[in-house]
Amino acid sequence: MNRTLELRGRWTLVTGASSGLGVELARAIARDHGGNVLVVARRRDRLEALCDELRSRYGVQAACIVADLSRTEEVERVFVEATRERELHGAALNAGVTYWGEALKQDWGELHAMLNTNVTSMVRLSTLFARHFIERRTEGGLLFVSSVAAFIPVPYQAAYSGTKAFILSYGQALGQELRPQGVSVTVFAPGGISTELLDKSGLSKRFKAGDMGVMSAEQSAAHALRAFLHRKELCVPGPLNQALALVARLLPRGFLAQRTAAMYKPSAEPR
Ligand SMILES: NC(=O)c1ccc[n+]([C@@H]2O[C@H](COP(=O)([O-])OP(=O)(O)OC[C@H]3O[C@@H](n4cnc5c(N)ncnc54)[C@H](OP(=O)(O)O)[C@@H]3O)[C@@H](O)[C@H]2O)c1
Repeated sequence: MNRTLELRGRWTLVTGASSGLGVELARAIARDHGGNVLVVARRRDRLEALCDELRSRYGVQAACIVADLSRTEEVERVFVEATRERELHGAALNAGVTYWGEALKQDWGELHAMLNTNVTSMVRLSTLFARHFIERRTEGGLLFVSSVAAFIPVPYQAAYSGTKAFILSYGQALGQELRPQGVSVTVFAPGGISTELLDKSGLSKRFKAGDMGVMSAEQSAAHALRAFLHRKELCVPGPLNQALALVARLLPRGFLAQRTAAMYKPSAEPR
């Protein structure tokens, strides 16, 4: 397997590319690496605007698939449409949702959609694309977007932090299976990123752009892409997040959960 991924003139799929980190990943692949990009999300207008921008500014090919990744049949359709007329070389599985609040107050429909989007679609798409890379001998790569929340049981984001811990464990394990077959898996575990996700979940009451450890989506995408291209197994971007991940690995998980509960309690006054 080549030591690095070469994306120039090749297609990479990016899920969750209508906002935040996904947009910046798609931009960086096109702008910095001359890669063609296939973007996936639910909001068609945003995906089409991004594709127009990538084609006109960077001269790459760009296409979109509008799909709801919380629905199994749409996940299957994404793979079929993505590979019908093109060979893929990379898949950045970035789409994700979260919430901030008491577990028992979460609407089951929304929680179920989160589990499907963050976990089930990731497992299904990763196995489909890994098989595609192996069959085509493309020596492709998968990028999984997890979070530093993967290292810590996070009360008031209990199911979300569980999904991110799943992605970390699944990604690192799958990577070992796939590497001998010429496919790399990179798990990206960022801390706070200044995106719509913070506003949508209410977390922006706690974390703001400019806070220590909170990165811009552009900065975060640069870290993720570097790790992806170098086929790193795991990337925690920035010294603060790396220190947090290290400390989290050393401390008892019960203690971590207790301290995080005190800090995260939504009923506490926002700063
Ligand atoms: N922001 C942070 O502080 C932070 C920290 C650590 C990890 N992360 C992770 O980073 C990734 C990107 O998040 P972000 O911060 O960029 O959030 P964001 O700005 O809210 O973007 C989330 C993306 O996921 C897509 N998405 C959500 N549900 C979907 C569904 N059912 N089907 C298809 N696409 C769906 C959204 O598109 P549509 O709504 O158009 O479908 C959007 O493009 C997530 O996996 C998140 O967990 C974020």
